[in-house]
Amino acid sequence: MAKPFLSIERLTQQFPDGAGGTLTVFENASFGVEKGEFVCILGHSGCGKSTIMNILAGLAEPTSGVVKMDGMHVSGPSLDRGVVFQNYSLLPWLSALKNVTFGVSARHKGWSKAKVEEHARAYLAMVGLEGDVVHRKPSQLSGGMRQRVSIARAFANQPKLLLLDEPFGALDALTRGTIQDELIKVWSQTEQTVFMITHDIDEAILLADRILLMTNGPLARVAESVDITIPRPRNRTEIVEHPNYYAIRNHLVQFLGQRSKDLAGHGSDGQDQRPETVHIDKAAHAEADVDIEPEGAHLRAVND
Ligand SMILES: Nc1ncnc2c1ncn2[C@@H]1O[C@H](COP(=O)(O)OP(=O)(O)OP(=O)(O)O)[C@@H](O)[C@H]1O
Ligand SMILES: [Mg+2]
Repeated sequence: MAKPFLSIERLTQQFPDGAGGTLTVFENASFGVEKGEFVCILGHSGCGKSTIMNILAGLAEPTSGVVKMDGMHVSGPSLDRGVVFQNYSLLPWLSALKNVTFGVSARHKGWSKAKVEEHARAYLAMVGLEGDVVHRKPSQLSGGMRQRVSIARAFANQPKLLLLDEPFGALDALTRGTIQDELIKVWSQTEQTVFMITHDIDEAILLADRILLMTNGPLARVAESVDITIPRPRNRTEIVEHPNYYAIRNHLVQFLGQRSKDLAGHGSDGQDQRPETVHIDKAAHAEADVDIEPEGAHLRAVND
């Protein structure tokens, strides 16, 4: 099989634990993301999601292992990888508009100032920021507005890979819904690949092609890759009526509630730690169906 667009190979991250020892966040974690895929990652606080994202962004070097994008080693930041951080990090001395034009003019050196501004404004408008508000500095914006600027900034650079670390966490439900819809619209119109961290199971089912499930840390691992077997376009009110919706949702809830603990804390014994593929499809014939089995029972999953 051809190598995936994004290939994470035997990634290990250790940190000093603050007491003279070593904290192994994850060990020999391997997984791939295909071009154009929308992948969400779910896991409890502290399991290492942001750490993985920082490595994918090229902002941190892992203790060992490699990340390749389009066959090239990821090292250092690049305009091909757009990041929306958990704690939106805008440049405080620049207006909302300038926070967006900054990257756009770096990416499109031949563009006139007017063209750069027009492009940036279009992306700000996409997240609901129009008119004079774009001239405000981050300190003059609400938390939700700042988060929207950081989303517009990442999208405006049209990166090959969008890395989103709980991008909607600080938004009210209404804005969150609107921006989720915008995100799907932009993603479906482009070749972009999205890797998104979220704590919200329903958001993940609505948006993702596939959900990666992480066990609790330390020694966390990406244990499962759950296919979202619900056709697009998806709509948040109709999706719950799809026969696979609650089957998938229950599987995720059960993982986060129980198995993320049961599977936690085991070393890799030097082995590559690849997620198992879980394909739940009530709509298809029986063999392809994964039953949601009681706690402790073995899961019938299909390996890659
Ligand atoms: N620079 C660092 N030095 C030491 N320990 C760190 C460092 N960065 C992260 N950690 C530790 O690594 C573990 C994983 O942290 P990370 O931020 O990746 O978690 P997370 O899954 O993103 O959690 P959350 O959902 O709360 O954002 C935590 O135990 C954290 O304390
Ligand atoms: Mg985090």
